[in-house]
Amino acid sequence: MLQTNPYSILAETVDPVFMQSFVFAMLIFVVVGTLIDTIHKKNVKYFFENAKKAKLSATKTLSAGEKISVISKTIVSDIATTSELGAGQRRAAHLLGMYGTILFWISSVIMIFCYSSQSSDTPSLWPIVWHVGAIMTVLGGSWFWFFLRVDVYSEAQPWYRIIRADLFVLALIASSLFGLIWSFLQSLNLQDRWDDKVFLVFYILSNLVLFGGVYWSKFAHMFYKPGAAIQKNLAEADGSRDNLPPPADAPEQFGLGIKREEPKHY
Ligand code: HEM
Repeated sequence: MLQTNPYSILAETVDPVFMQSFVFAMLIFVVVGTLIDTIHKKNVKYFFENAKKAKLSATKTLSAGEKISVISKTIVSDIATTSELGAGQRRAAHLLGMYGTILFWISSVIMIFCYSSQSSDTPSLWPIVWHVGAIMTVLGGSWFWFFLRVDVYSEAQPWYRIIRADLFVLALIASSLFGLIWSFLQSLNLQDRWDDKVFLVFYILSNLVLFGGVYWSKFAHMFYKPGAAIQKNLAEADGSRDNLPPPADAPEQFGLGIKREEPKHY
């Protein structure tokens, strides 16, 4: 199963053009959902106005080289390793899910566009990346959803309480899980079976919810977060600090303060 391209088996009954059109439709969903979200929330407008205002209090003009250095450090630390999440389970679970999803999506696109015709031979690397990516997403997403969600971790809500904010993580887990089950059932290669088709339908539906739900879910954070991290680090480097006061030049003598207990009462 791990070395089989599930889309090339599907191509025996479904024309690859349909699969490729589905990928384009999902891409359009993401672009349109994110655009409507930014118009509705006015967050991009606020973001640029705030950046313009902060520029006025900059104490230093950054050269192109300095800007490139700040942006590169942000990409390596804040974005590629989501350093905002600190050094704990939250970050480990996020990295597992984030890289799993990236591997799953990239290998899906490559297998659908380059290797889904019946005549083509898929290099075994891509199906392996696809299955490993899906497993990582299910593990990272479930770790977050069952144990680390604020509702469960800090508010003592039961893990089965579902609200709209869970749409993104649940659709993400569902699409990878249904993809895995569909691939497994297909690989059994039993004639006249219907169960792989049922899971193919679940796989399609969960993708429609994941990509069609961008406007209502947290999907777009994967675009907003990197932009905000770059802006924050540039504002620190040019001294404007988003109009926040500079850190006090005095030793921290406040006792344990908030470090007395791990913050978990939101
Ligand atoms: C393919 C890319 C990504 C995927 C699949 C992904 C996935 C997720 C998921 C499933 C959640 C939990 C959402 C929820 O609260 O229900 C989450 C939260 C979060 N993500 Fe991402 N993410 C991605 C990219 C990023 C990037 C690039 C950043 C930062 C630069 C980032 C920062 C965060 C933060 C700060 C949270 C809140 C975590 C928490 O509450 O524990 N994510 N992400």
